[in-house]
Amino acid sequence: MIQKPKGTYDVYGKEGQTILYIENVLRALMDRYDYEYVRTPHFEASELFHRAVGETTDIVTKETYDFLDRGERKMTLRPEGTAGVIRSFIENKMYARDVMPVKTWYYGPMYRYERPQAGRFREFYQFGVEVFGSQDAMADAEVISIPVTLYKLLGLKGIKVNINSLGDTESREKYREALIQHFKPHLSELCEDCKERFSKNPLRILDCKVDHDLEIMKKAPKTIDYLNEASKKHFEKVQEYLKVMDIPYSIHPGIVRGLDYYTHTVFEVEASVEGFGSQNVLCGGGRYNNLVKNIGDVDVPGVGFALGMERLMTALRYEQIDLCNNTLDVYIIPFEETKKEAISLLQELRLSGFKADTDYMNKNIKANFKQADKKNARFLILLGEDELEQNLLTVKDNHTKEEYKIQKEELIAFLDEAFEEECTCEECGGSHEEME
Ligand code: HAM
Repeated sequence: MIQKPKGTYDVYGKEGQTILYIENVLRALMDRYDYEYVRTPHFEASELFHRAVGETTDIVTKETYDFLDRGERKMTLRPEGTAGVIRSFIENKMYARDVMPVKTWYYGPMYRYERPQAGRFREFYQFGVEVFGSQDAMADAEVISIPVTLYKLLGLKGIKVNINSLGDTESREKYREALIQHFKPHLSELCEDCKERFSKNPLRILDCKVDHDLEIMKKAPKTIDYLNEASKKHFEKVQEYLKVMDIPYSIHPGIVRGLDYYTHTVFEVEASVEGFGSQNVLCGGGRYNNLVKNIGDVDVPGVGFALGMERLMTALRYEQIDLCNNTLDVYIIPFEETKKEAISLLQELRLSGFKADTDYMNKNIKANFKQADKKNARFLILLGEDELEQNLLTVKDNHTKEEYKIQKEELIAFLDEAFEEECTCEECGGSHEEME
């Protein structure tokens, strides 16, 4: 039997329903925030990621899926979304629009050749946003508020927002110098990778999973002690905005993030539920004021974040939040002679916005009642020959156990009334709207 590739997974059953539910919430949320949807290719020229993500990051040095296409071009399956969205922003001249900032969101699979473990896959889904054109700390705060709002809407309680600042180019440079001075006398204590990082990009040492617990790491200088005045001010503003939005946060000087492109604000949201495991970072992001320029000679600042769907699903499981809509509005029980009427009625119900189903297995009536229960059907419609001759339907309310005889033409109005009283579902916002 051929099996799925290592580090990938199939979606089906309840998980599929939950994912679709979350995707609907995402779309509605991005509409509320007035962000536009962008979709970019799943593979791009390898050079894009080398320039954007950084030559010395683990992602680029160890984790990309690279291949030569049949025209001998070097291609890479995208390990993250930011680089592709920036490429698209530049290539499609979005920077020339008269409405700024350009606020975008995206959703789709990303690929990293990592050692698979809980919360770490080789193909995983990210939802993310990128905001282009604003230097203002308000944009940073808005971006941080998006995952927080999403997690809140989904009912998650155990989350923690951690923020830090890397400062502008000048502050980062000063910090880099301080790191070099700090690690230089201790080079022999560091792993081979870190020795290389020391000469190429000392900031990367702080992300090392091998040397993580060394005393020398714990005593490393902190970015916030090297911020110049402008950078300090920016960071203070971000915090003021978070406070007035009622978003609790902690400052974590250790957050430098595993990608090269950040300046100023960086943040992560972690699941603070006990036993969640080591991959508890639900999402991460920050500001990148030089990245667009590095990729395409257009000097536009950016800020964004991305969250992993798999970790979000795990968090929901840990907090025992069930988002599945496992109910059916109507289940039609047909008889051999009334199948045509059954399928015609199904069509009418579905066009009118009801979730409806019937029996395709020629079950007997008892088995059909059982099936309707398993599907959590609210109403059952018995479609017997006698009833049809009288133009009547037998409708049973599974909640109240009451039975009604209803004229066929009155069925939709009857159901509309019944559901109007109680419907709270996300999609219809309180009423089962008829499809246009
Ligand atoms: P990242 O921290 O590399 O940032 O990834 C963001 C999120 O994607 C992580 O917090 C995690 O939830 C999820 N994730 C990453 N790798 C894996 C994996 N192997 N398996 C499962 N989930 C994973 C970025 O990708 C940046 N592009 C974020 C950003 C957008 N910064 C600015 N704009």
